[in-house]
Amino acid sequence: MINFLDLHKINNRFRKELEASFTKSLETSYYILGPNVKTFETEFANYCGTDYCLGTANGLDALTLILKGYIEIGRLKKGDKIIVPANTYIATILSVLHADLEPVFVEPNPKTYNISAEEVKTKLNKDVKAILAVHLYGQLAEMERLKSIADEHNLLLIEDAAQAHGAETNSKMQGLNSKSQDLIANSQRQKAGNIGHAAAFSFYPSKNLGALGDGGAVTTNDNDLYEAILLLRNYGSKVKYENEIIGYNSRLDDLQAAFLSVKLKYLDSDNAKRREVARCYLQKIRNSKIVLPFYDDSDNHVFHTFVVELEDRKHFIDHLNKNNVGWLIHYPIPPHKQKALQRFSHLKLPITEQIHKRIISLPISPVLTNEEVNTVIEVINTY
Ligand SMILES: Cc1ncc(COP(=O)(O)O)c(C=O)c1O
Repeated sequence: MINFLDLHKINNRFRKELEASFTKSLETSYYILGPNVKTFETEFANYCGTDYCLGTANGLDALTLILKGYIEIGRLKKGDKIIVPANTYIATILSVLHADLEPVFVEPNPKTYNISAEEVKTKLNKDVKAILAVHLYGQLAEMERLKSIADEHNLLLIEDAAQAHGAETNSKMQGLNSKSQDLIANSQRQKAGNIGHAAAFSFYPSKNLGALGDGGAVTTNDNDLYEAILLLRNYGSKVKYENEIIGYNSRLDDLQAAFLSVKLKYLDSDNAKRREVARCYLQKIRNSKIVLPFYDDSDNHVFHTFVVELEDRKHFIDHLNKNNVGWLIHYPIPPHKQKALQRFSHLKLPITEQIHKRIISLPISPVLTNEEVNTVIEVINTY
């Protein structure tokens, strides 16, 4: 059986280091907002290239705290409209609702599945105050275009980078020799988390940078937002038992932070391995019934998932099951069609709905062997 994702195998590579971190934590006994959180926040801010990183309990909270933080510092107010992709995991939309803001659903570019900048333009009005872009499946959204729209209309641009740890802009420039490319690219590269005004990450175990439990983080260069979230995530308190604002309890667990510091060192090589698997699939899967994902061969994609499209998904699933190849669907029901979001069910979002009916995710991970990759390819080519 080729598992869709083998988390044991992924984490077992770091067993010694993870065990050493656990033992050290047990000895020092700092469990909440201890030194491991501070260390990881510094490391992850450095990695993303931002001034600040704040650990949170999970990715949904990271998103919600960004929006609540902006309300706290007067950049947003309750009821403001926030542009969101219709084609996303429900957490993106929930964060907007939890912050008492109003989501404006925008259709994706069917080629990349990410929010269409062209469509965003058609939804702007005086009540829209922010764009919340998701780097879905690990591929950066059209950030340059979204940035110029945000700048032109004085909007906040927030990244949901839950699936895109390590994805980078400008990693390939056409028409230049490789030396100039390196020079220019290195000076202009921006990592997910440092492209918009603020970004949210999830460290859910299956993510490219996954903890051994829940975890999340906010990255930003905005000192006011940083100060607001510092309070919000910890009962509105900076000094113990002094509460300045009505806060929450949403802190990254100190032990998870220690594990994340171990795994962060391997994120780039893991992402490179994911791209290697993706390139192999893209080159060798030859089946006219299967639509392969768009990839420009740059580092703007970290292949959190490898999503293909096809007409008769049910039939294909039978074939994968018969051949012991794991699969998942990201996601089977679009957010606006979920029972929880009934008040949006009237919206006409045909591209999103079509995508949800046709997509399926194939196994991809840094621990997939060449043999497993070749088996998946063979199984698909014989479908
Ligand atoms: C796009 C997206 N946004 C937000 C989240 C929420 O993250 P978490 O599950 O850590 O709350 C996830 C992860 O599931 C996600 O995929």
